[in-house]
Amino acid sequence: MESKKEKDIYIRRFGLYRIVEHWINAVLFAILVLTGLPQKFPVYDISQSIILGLGGIESVRQLHRLCGLVLTLVLVQHILVAVSGVLLFKWRTSMFIHEKDFWDNMNNLKYYLGLRKHPASCDRFDYRQKFEYWGVVVGGILMGATGLILWFPTLITRAVPAMVVPNARALHTNEALLAFLVIIIWHIYHVIFSPEVFPLDTAILTGKISRKRMVHEHPVELARMEGKSLEAIVGHDEQVGHAPDAKEAIMSGPLVVKEEIEK
Ligand code: HEM
Ligand code: HEM
Repeated sequence: MESKKEKDIYIRRFGLYRIVEHWINAVLFAILVLTGLPQKFPVYDISQSIILGLGGIESVRQLHRLCGLVLTLVLVQHILVAVSGVLLFKWRTSMFIHEKDFWDNMNNLKYYLGLRKHPASCDRFDYRQKFEYWGVVVGGILMGATGLILWFPTLITRAVPAMVVPNARALHTNEALLAFLVIIIWHIYHVIFSPEVFPLDTAILTGKISRKRMVHEHPVELARMEGKSLEAIVGHDEQVGHAPDAKEAIMSGPLVVKEEIEK
């Protein structure tokens, strides 16, 4: 049985910059949903109450555009920081999608169906988190681009055919609903309602995650951080056979400076 001490070891997962960036993104996204969806569904009572509560349709539109602009700038800085981090400071490309993600997904499906004894051994971000991250980044680029077209239609149509405006509107409005549903159903489930973290995954508030969770959720990263084999962390070697690059992922050097925190 694991000792009390092992239970209480916490490992740094996010620095202050990532925590602040996440919450700026989340707050702006929530305001954009709150000011965007009532424009899409104006006939509902709740839409009318939100619009009236925010001071009428003109202020709702202004607030939406302002938050949209700030979110687009946050996204641009995120991409610039990520690209320069990887190119200049040799950051590990931990959000890139690899063949291992496909196998992790397959292995977890088998595990959930009872066809496999152990869950997949994932790296710093698992395939679900990568899906969500790329959804937010690619979706953010689309929302920013189409939002700017809707904001400045006459300026834009000086350079491109007028049909881009209704097309941009169709993309903006449908992607908005999709993004809202993905975040509400998928992300909020994983960070609040999933039995593994309920009532709240505090990693994005404190920046810390328990070593116990690392063993279950990110054993490949933990093995790399502690300089151990994957088998030593998870207690079996099934994963390596199914996902050939798991071992390689561990071999390729340290990701973050290990910082353990006694809670
Ligand atoms: C109640 C609101 C929210 C909570 C409690 C929350 C919590 C979290 C947590 C705990 C993580 C880190 C997971 C990990 O260990 O890697 C995370 C990551 C992330 N969050 Fe949120 N989040 C919230 C809202 C949002 C919103 C509104 C968005 C975007 C529109 C968002 C986008 C992301 C993205 C892209 C990641 C990185 C990928 C991932 O790890 O899933 N979050 N969030
Ligand atoms: C992910 C975040 C966003 C969501 C969820 C969202 C949602 C929406 C929705 C649902 C509409 C109503 C469309 C309709 O009437 O069918 C809308 C309109 C609009 N959005 Fe967004 N949007 C987002 C980001 C942005 C961004 C980044 C910008 C600008 C850079 C922007 C600018 C606009 C503009 C200009 C309109 C037309 C209404 C108006 O003139 O104010 N949006 N948005």
